[in-house]
Amino acid sequence: MTTVAALAATIDRALRDAMGRALPAGLAGADPQVRRSARGDFQANGLLSAARQAGMSPRELAEKVAASVDGQGVIAACEASGPGFLNITVTDSALLGQVSARLGDDRLGIPASEHGITVIDYSQPNIAKEMHVGHLRSTIIGDALARILGFLGEEVIRHNHLGDWGTQFGMLIEYLIEHGEDWQHEAGSAEESLSRLNRLYRDARAAFDSDPGFADRARRRVVALQAGDPRTLAGWREIVAESKVYFNEVYDKLGVLLTDEDAVGESFYNPFLPEVADELERLGVAQVDQGALCVFFDDITGPTGERIPLIIRKSDGGFGYAATDLAAIRYRIGTLHARRILYVVDIRQALHFRMVFETARRAGWLNDQVHAYHVAFGTVLGPDGRPFKTRAGETVRLISLLDEAVERARAVVREKSRHLDAGSLEATAQQVGIGAVKYADLASNRAKDYVFDLDRMVSLTGNTGVYLQYAHARTRSILRKAGDEAAAVARVHPGVALDPAERALALKLDELGATLDDVAQAYEPHRLCGYLFELAQAFTAFFESCPVLRAPDQPTRENRLVLCKLTGETLKTGLELLGLAAPDQL
Ligand code: ARG
Repeated sequence: MTTVAALAATIDRALRDAMGRALPAGLAGADPQVRRSARGDFQANGLLSAARQAGMSPRELAEKVAASVDGQGVIAACEASGPGFLNITVTDSALLGQVSARLGDDRLGIPASEHGITVIDYSQPNIAKEMHVGHLRSTIIGDALARILGFLGEEVIRHNHLGDWGTQFGMLIEYLIEHGEDWQHEAGSAEESLSRLNRLYRDARAAFDSDPGFADRARRRVVALQAGDPRTLAGWREIVAESKVYFNEVYDKLGVLLTDEDAVGESFYNPFLPEVADELERLGVAQVDQGALCVFFDDITGPTGERIPLIIRKSDGGFGYAATDLAAIRYRIGTLHARRILYVVDIRQALHFRMVFETARRAGWLNDQVHAYHVAFGTVLGPDGRPFKTRAGETVRLISLLDEAVERARAVVREKSRHLDAGSLEATAQQVGIGAVKYADLASNRAKDYVFDLDRMVSLTGNTGVYLQYAHARTRSILRKAGDEAAAVARVHPGVALDPAERALALKLDELGATLDDVAQAYEPHRLCGYLFELAQAFTAFFESCPVLRAPDQPTRENRLVLCKLTGETLKTGLELLGLAAPDQL
């Protein structure tokens, strides 16, 4: 149990006592909320409704609770404050007890509660196109959420909703079939795959624009693809496979959880589209309007007040992005039994998801038990504050971006960690460089835009991945120096008084659970980043004022070793939940 939970239980007991008979039978007491606070160590509130039920003023009730609380060795001081708060200071021995209990638990004291299945739709690059920084954001944020929700006990299903279907394939497949010999190749690198795809795209586009005969054949190719013509499908498969070589290399470099099994692209839902449209029409959710099957919303209108529909089936009978998303939501709920679906997608698609979710609600697929949420993120900006592009105005190549980050990191690590041999230097540069990019993305509030600034990302000071990686490595270095003793020490000496910096560190360590709950509530990984940054700062302050290896006496030394250990484990767990490596040595 965390300190907060223990305190809440104690305060709850005192509250019930204080309310005494004033509490009408059958009415449970209010639920005191305990939070970390700058005044005292914790603050309890939530006494207002209890006071009302007890017919006392909140202040009066708070004073009664403060006077009657049984500290049980945990609470050192409890004072009423303000209109009905309690400021609580915990004892040093309780804090130390928490530290060693958490260290003795391989989940660091964080409970895993089973809620059910969550589908996370993330990454979602488009076949035969380059991944752009938006896909990078989705991949990084989605992956962190998959790790965090999984750690908290959720059964997570990762879905990479690849853009692998649609009319644009007509010209690509047609061109491939007509000029197949150029395409013959040995399996090569991602760079090669990508340039081959870019060339295919460019050439097919040029032929489409300049040669009406080709454009015609390309359109017929779309029909053949929809109809499942084997030769057309074979061409499509080749293009998909080629793209996956490239995506997988990006995933590999990034160190994300996504595998080929997670790739459930738009094409997967193609067979379900007609029945989804029929079902929506039968339920009266969708209506035919000017030949197209549409869903209307009173509150979604265009500039002249006309209602903007979500188009399920176009007047030519074709299905698009919206129909696919409706088939996907229906499949995820009906077949996979998801109780929650997260869409980690650019904020510019907010209206699309609002319409899709509302349609699914009207169809009864989403309801009070089953939720969908658009985990929206902002744009990555260049140094000029405009959407990130190369100087030539093209989209930035992800692989070169990541390589550049590793190169910057190599320079930083070479400078700072002269003791590393060449092999470890290289491995560390990868971990630091990739970590820097991921962390910078995760550390900013996801709904906002952020500036892609490699220099800041690999900076050793400030809220950066490498700062946290160094703090973690420092805990390991202290423990390495203490050798076998550090390995053996696990228990604390609860009788030893704590220094202010030790107290602050112990209290910070105690916040991991509440932080993860916050992240899981709001789907905001930056809260975990902020917490880890504060923890690293608390550790630095501790490290500067409380010598560990040269502690004044053996019990103090052992307590400090335990604090170092738990700090190291907490930083490592936190970094890994964000998808960053936590090397032991830097
Ligand atoms: N492939 C789309 C794009 O690049 C994003 C797909 C998002 N996911 C979804 N279920 N619609 O814009």
